[in-house]
Amino acid sequence: MKRIWIKDISMYDGKEVEIRGWLYNKRSSGKVKFVIFRDGTGYLQGVMLKNNISDKYFDLFDELNIETSVIAKGSIHEDKRAPGGYEMSINYIEIIGKANEYPISKKEHGVSFLMANRHLWIRSKKQTAILRIRSEVINASRDFLNKRGFTLVDAPIFTPAACEGTTTLFKVDYFGDDAFLSQSGQLYNEAAAMALGNVYCFGPSFRAEKSKTRRHVTEFWQVEPEMAYADVNDAMNVAEDMLVYIIESVIKYREKDLENIGREISILKKCTKPFSRITYTEAVDIIKSKGVDFKWGEDFGAPHEEIIALHFDKPVFIYKYPVEVKAFYMKRDPDNEKLVLGFDLLAPEGYGEIAGGGQREENYNTLVNRIEESNLPLDAFKWYLDLRKYGSIPHSGFGLGIERTVRWICKLHHIRETSAFPRTLERIYP
Ligand code: 4AD
Ligand code: MG
Repeated sequence: MKRIWIKDISMYDGKEVEIRGWLYNKRSSGKVKFVIFRDGTGYLQGVMLKNNISDKYFDLFDELNIETSVIAKGSIHEDKRAPGGYEMSINYIEIIGKANEYPISKKEHGVSFLMANRHLWIRSKKQTAILRIRSEVINASRDFLNKRGFTLVDAPIFTPAACEGTTTLFKVDYFGDDAFLSQSGQLYNEAAAMALGNVYCFGPSFRAEKSKTRRHVTEFWQVEPEMAYADVNDAMNVAEDMLVYIIESVIKYREKDLENIGREISILKKCTKPFSRITYTEAVDIIKSKGVDFKWGEDFGAPHEEIIALHFDKPVFIYKYPVEVKAFYMKRDPDNEKLVLGFDLLAPEGYGEIAGGGQREENYNTLVNRIEESNLPLDAFKWYLDLRKYGSIPHSGFGLGIERTVRWICKLHHIRETSAFPRTLERIYP
């Protein structure tokens, strides 16, 4: 008998099949027992009729606790009343692993209880939908870059120096020396772009974020494209195309999951090209026009980004930031020494930054000055400065945060639900 996945059930109308999964729910009305299985791809109602199934199987019903693992066989038929539209008439059932009383029930649980049981919580309907959407976001962003001819180059995780500021470094002992977990693969990406043209890295980034927010985790994943002979506008063009591709792919392949978590798809469908591009200074004007006090030159916090992100009904780019609020590697605006050619991409509905990048400083001397001004160790950046000594070119790139993107696409309140095992300030278990 053919073992099938529940997601493919409609192809087996009238056929005998086997499914392997877990018990999601059950109910009984005398001689008719209903069970709902899940197998990670969907949910299927099975029915056991006293007269159609041998007693040894019928009696197993009482042992089927929530999350008991089971193999079931039977014939599939369409039934509009069943969740998913199909039902299995069970003629065989086997318990693979018994289940103790399951700690997560259908009733409301507090967040800290759910987080402590994250290894079990991820089995729930909403969490599996989010994880499938995350998988598609990653798949789509890589697919997009691969199709455009970008070469994947993995950046190291152990690094000798900071990329995104020294305050959020995770220090590790590296055989007696200090090393740091990577905050971004960007600097290595720049070297790779000089070797291969258009490249990207995809991997984890680590930041010792000491504030508790709904949009920061200490371990997150970035897709980081880096392009040789590209300016800041080229980078924004690629970011725009990539995000549109991601949204289209999620709608195309994960529409059911979006529905299941209650996400309104029409809003995502509106996110077509072009996205608005405003300068930092224009963004400040918008913030002030809403009656909020803000001093030019300061960095935007979450509330400021929220204002901008609510002002537009699509993702929006902010570019040309003050030098002080951005990292040392950003190229100065040739028209205004106070600005750098960096950008952030903000998601609508108040979500704010999901990607950041820009044009890199290609001038050796300017870069040396910026490293010194930022109190970073020149020694550790010697290799990086070499890139400006041997055929330096204009180049640009950005990093798209997977968790931030998933949080917005799924319209989640908190970033913790965007990864299977999120790492936060207060939690490293399970
Ligand atoms: O804006 P960031 O710090 O930029 C960089 O790391 C660049 N070096 C990327 C590049 O140009 N190659 O981080 C990039 C993105 C942010 O826009 C955000 O989506 C995500 O990474 N991010 C975080 N996501 C979750 N938790 C955190 N603590 C994050 N910090 C950054
Ligand atoms: Mg940023």
